[in-house]
Amino acid sequence: MASPEDMVEAVTETTTTTNTDDGKPTISTVVIIIAMQTEALPLVNKLQLSQDHHFVFPEGVPWVRYHGVYKDLQVNIIWPGKDLLLGVDNIGTVSASLVTYASIQALKPDLIINAGTAGGFKAKGACVGDVYLASDVAFHDRRIPIPVFDQYGIGARQTFSTPNLIKELNLKVGKLSTGDSLDMSPHDETSILANGATIKDMEGAAVAYVADLLSVPVVFIKAVTDIVDGEKPTTEEFLQNLVAVTAALDQAVSQVVDFINRKHLGEL
Ligand code: ADE
Repeated sequence: MASPEDMVEAVTETTTTTNTDDGKPTISTVVIIIAMQTEALPLVNKLQLSQDHHFVFPEGVPWVRYHGVYKDLQVNIIWPGKDLLLGVDNIGTVSASLVTYASIQALKPDLIINAGTAGGFKAKGACVGDVYLASDVAFHDRRIPIPVFDQYGIGARQTFSTPNLIKELNLKVGKLSTGDSLDMSPHDETSILANGATIKDMEGAAVAYVADLLSVPVVFIKAVTDIVDGEKPTTEEFLQNLVAVTAALDQAVSQVVDFINRKHLGEL
């Protein structure tokens, strides 16, 4: 097990804080939360990150941290790893919440990027391969039909405002709805429509909830693997497009990282 001294060294290895010309501190530490290994590894390679040898998370958890210095940033990619029993990626809101909490505690990021794939609604203009920045997030599978608890269950919130980033990268912008199922039940469909969502994922609103609790801004970058209101079965379309769409996702995320380098939060 890593000693407390090792852990401090791991977390503080190259943190540098500089100021922009107007005296504001630049973004220094970034945490990128990605649920699937297939989505994470090309970006790990592109940013030349290495797997952590000073474990910053509790002993025994499968969560993986890749880290390194990219340009002027301390970049961390956090992947929740694989289920210890079944060996599949730990997708969904439970693992996303846990790694978001643990990463904020351990790494004190200035900014979180939640990157991943999503289902898209063609009725709202989404196409396979599109990359979206989420303007709003909400849950669609936490139905609690009691006054006020209903709003708590939906957990709708606007995301951190990044007008310059959207303009510079020419990203599509839409509302994101989150639930723990890949498919869409009729109940989910009603809630997703009520949320006004263009894209649907399994982590976003959970990351937003935890990051909001701890006052860390989050940017959500989601690439569309499947059309939810289309003809093809979701699982088939998702698996067919996962690798190709991941390339578009990782390209967009590295552009986001390039854009935030040497900027303060107010410039995004
Ligand atoms: N990730 C990729 N496609 C998805 C979908 N249809 N629903 C939820 N998460 C997804």
